[in-house]
Amino acid sequence: MSDFSDIRISALDAVEKSISLKMLEDARVALLGKSGSITAELKKMGALPPEQRKEFGQAVNSLKEEIAAALDAKKATMEETELSARLTSETLDITLAPRPETQGSIHPVTQVIEEMTAIFGAMGFSVAEGPEIEDDFHNFTALNIPANHPARQMHDTFYFPEKPDGTRNLLRTHTSPVQIRWMQHHQPPYRFIAPGRVYRCDSDMTHAPMFHQIEALVIDKSITMAHLKGCLTQMVRSFFGVEDVPLRFRPSFFPFTEPSAEVDIGCSWENGELKIGAGKSWLEIGGCGMVHPNVLKAVNLDPAQWQGFAFGMGIERMAMLKYGIPDVRPFFESDARWLAHYSFAPFDIPSLVGGLAR
Ligand code: DAH
Repeated sequence: MSDFSDIRISALDAVEKSISLKMLEDARVALLGKSGSITAELKKMGALPPEQRKEFGQAVNSLKEEIAAALDAKKATMEETELSARLTSETLDITLAPRPETQGSIHPVTQVIEEMTAIFGAMGFSVAEGPEIEDDFHNFTALNIPANHPARQMHDTFYFPEKPDGTRNLLRTHTSPVQIRWMQHHQPPYRFIAPGRVYRCDSDMTHAPMFHQIEALVIDKSITMAHLKGCLTQMVRSFFGVEDVPLRFRPSFFPFTEPSAEVDIGCSWENGELKIGAGKSWLEIGGCGMVHPNVLKAVNLDPAQWQGFAFGMGIERMAMLKYGIPDVRPFFESDARWLAHYSFAPFDIPSLVGGLAR
């Protein structure tokens, strides 16, 4: 009978004496690796006469299995010891005082959009969105502003480079193209607002090259200017939280509405401070009017059947008036001091009443 007792003892000893995973791995290689001592014994089997092979094979294989099992068992114990050592050393001291954390806040533009959405939502309006990169058709032509119309010069437009077909995309100059996109994809009646970014090549104390507007469109069979006035009056009173704000509709011109008006709200100045409500002065807040028949025709609606109103307002302007912000430029300068002063606490926003619709 083959005697492997010496190899066995020294192998088990090597396993036992390993005090690190590295040492254990070295022992495994020295015993069971390609040139390991037990592997060398296994290799001898081929040279034996057949009658000895079986007995030798059984003995050397059982040795191999015993050593492999010893290696595995040792490895498991070592890993367990290592884990429990880590668990005891890496405890968290939950009694430590927390680090002060700066909390994010709501930008006045977002705040005003949320407030407006809640007010119009309560009046049954949905919220629509459109792309900021527009084409000439949606931004101008469908809104009754044909090529070379002087109204295009009112909009200092940022154009993209010319495309092979000679047309140029542009950064939308107002939210009015959302009217067109919505009408192209939905059946009337319509009642929605569209808040969003718009762009004009303009920059001074009251103009930023990027700013926000909120558009509204109401189309049905018998919508009149009286609805327009009622809707805007209700919105202004809820937004400013002042019951008696007078509104003034000044005749004006927009290609996409007829008649058109600019909307002013009453205010007064007391010791240099603006007060919204009945007073001696007026402040313009936006444009409005009855949707021009050509706009309805551009989206294949019959103006003899459908009519309604639209309006557009500047969001920064509404924020400046409501929250006493004197200059529009810092809105987008990301100055943490300005934001700390004019922004709003999160989790305190009026909720969306009407629901989002796209
Ligand atoms: N789109 C206009 C602008 O940016 C604002 C406006 C005026 C929108 C009258 C309207 C409207 O929907 O009816 O100057």
